[in-house]
Amino acid sequence: MNIQVPDHISSIKRYQPGKTIPQLQEEFGWEKVAILWNNENTLGYSPKSKEAVIKAYDTINYYPDPISEDLREKLSKKIERPKEEIILGNGSESVLMLTIRALCSGDDEFLTSGGSFVIVYNWARINNVRCVSMPLTEGYGFDLEAIKSRINRNTKVIYLANVNNPTGTMISKAELEDFMQNVPDHILVIVDEAYFEFSESLHEDFPNSLKMNYSNLLTLRTFSKAYGIAGVRLGYAVGHEKIIESIAKTKLTFEPTALAQAAGLGALEDTDFLAKTIENNTKGLKYFSTELTRLGIQFVPSYGNFIMTAWKDQKEVDKIFNGLMKKGVLVRPLAGSLEHCIRVSVGRPEENQHFIHSLENV
Ligand SMILES: Cc1ncc(COP(=O)(O)O)c(C=O)c1O
Repeated sequence: MNIQVPDHISSIKRYQPGKTIPQLQEEFGWEKVAILWNNENTLGYSPKSKEAVIKAYDTINYYPDPISEDLREKLSKKIERPKEEIILGNGSESVLMLTIRALCSGDDEFLTSGGSFVIVYNWARINNVRCVSMPLTEGYGFDLEAIKSRINRNTKVIYLANVNNPTGTMISKAELEDFMQNVPDHILVIVDEAYFEFSESLHEDFPNSLKMNYSNLLTLRTFSKAYGIAGVRLGYAVGHEKIIESIAKTKLTFEPTALAQAAGLGALEDTDFLAKTIENNTKGLKYFSTELTRLGIQFVPSYGNFIMTAWKDQKEVDKIFNGLMKKGVLVRPLAGSLEHCIRVSVGRPEENQHFIHSLENV
């Protein structure tokens, strides 16, 4: 093959999917399974969301509404921001990628922390944008002082995950306000709040960046976590109208799909399901911290729907991961600077117990 692939693409390692759940089930013959490796909502999804999708299926011979008008209107009322400041995409991952594509070029730099959401580094590189990562603090949080001190004339976008995935740490309201006041307003600050619905009920000082008034702040939210519809891919960004307009220019014409828009509209109707999900998570996190403390396992207090445990080294992580896998508990061993850590999502009570009992045995 003689076609030249540009260096910034050829240097990227292709995503290597592991075995599927049915393949693993066949290999290990599990009696009980707890899928706790992707921070999904294992309670399921709202029946209202399902109903809306089934209804929308009747019109899937037509293209979807390219500007998700109904969903933006509904969201606009919920979050109290004008619909012109909202854009939806195929998951918040897509909106993040589109933002980089829309804003960065040439020598522009994307500044963030190491030990954060793995996908963001890739999207910067795929878009040929230099990604600069500062180390995490000793407590596994974003080091906002270090990030501020690294700003230079090429810095174009700063990415903060609040809470941070995979560490579960949060940036407080006062810290975020202070940060925003010290970042020049020609730099876009993306605050990724994928776990917001959980976080705000776990800590009274958790900031809602949608209520902060900065023209250079872009908030990312998703329907994949608390709303439980990760499989249809639906997320959104909220920010200044001009930023949203630029992102809209880079988006696939018919993103997100009609079924995703319907699923989102249905999900927003169901406050009971959301409340149940949040309650399950708060209880699950409490259970994890009590049990991990009892077992003498180090962990980082979390404000998301997952918790990060820390071990001696990667060898120990591999042993725990493989041992849990044999028992039907799927967790996430981490890489890079966090290769001594394992992240586990909060599941249903029986899944959480299966994890703790299996861990005790391993
Ligand atoms: C911090 C963070 N942002 C974004 C996402 C992706 O969300 P979506 O499913 O909307 O693409 C995740 C998923 O794990 C995440 O942890």
